[in-house]
Amino acid sequence: MGRLILKSVSRKFNNSFAVNDVNLEVNEGEFLCLLGPSGCGKTTVLRLAAGLDTPSNGEIFLDNKKITGANRECGFVFQEYALFPWRTVRGNIEFGPEVKGMQKEDVRQLSQHYIDLVGLTGFENHYPHELSGGMKQRVGIARAYANNPKLLLMDEPFGALDAQTRNIMQEELLRIWDKEHISALFVTHSVDEAVYLADRVVVMSARPGTVKEIFGINLPRPRVRTGPEANELRNSILKSLGAEIKKLMLQV
Ligand SMILES: Nc1ncnc2c1ncn2[C@@H]1O[C@H](COP(=O)(O)OP(=O)(O)O)[C@@H](O)[C@H]1O
Ligand SMILES: [Mg+2]
Repeated sequence: MGRLILKSVSRKFNNSFAVNDVNLEVNEGEFLCLLGPSGCGKTTVLRLAAGLDTPSNGEIFLDNKKITGANRECGFVFQEYALFPWRTVRGNIEFGPEVKGMQKEDVRQLSQHYIDLVGLTGFENHYPHELSGGMKQRVGIARAYANNPKLLLMDEPFGALDAQTRNIMQEELLRIWDKEHISALFVTHSVDEAVYLADRVVVMSARPGTVKEIFGINLPRPRVRTGPEANELRNSILKSLGAEIKKLMLQV
């Protein structure tokens, strides 16, 4: 479950291609990181996979079902948290299951499970403005998981966090992902983050974005952040990505 396939997917805005001929597969239970220069269409790819936008050409499948409208089998974690400010931690996490019409006691049990899992026990009744950035993103992750998705889509979820909190959140995310193994498509602009998290890293070209190169990260988990193999991978990925960033700088 949770196998995503993009087949020759393109998206035009105002008659110009933002992403062009993207072929990509996220395998069952795989953690895939998408890297690319700014404006290459990473968010566009996630929105298309979530069914929040429609390809101009090509097709997208989740478990062999073609995605045609808003895809409820995806959990989306945004960079800018996107929490309901008038709902508590618990209220935010319970929103999805409530909308689905789940029984009240079941909703409560489910939310508590994810509150505990993301390490927010004791903060159930806090409002978003009372939380740090790292805690808000924990709510975002718990909310996505509570919808029981087949696929997690994450758009630079830790981009706004300081380096230390970011490292902790990466470890937490892997700990949760290890417990409930859901396919993940994770957008980042950090090569370090991608090499720490991913089973495979996809580098996209500068706009119009397409798949440039794919790197398998065959490092054992739990991973250490340093070491000759990780360094070598980082260097190769940086080289591939760097060439695209240079192209972008020359365009501007
Ligand atoms: N709704 C839209 N209308 C017009 N252009 C858009 C729209 N959404 C994205 N774009 C353009 O498509 C390109 C890719 O955007 P995006 O997917 O946000 O890139 P990334 O997430 O990689 O930075 C950018 O040039 C952006 O300006
Ligand atoms: Mg983006």
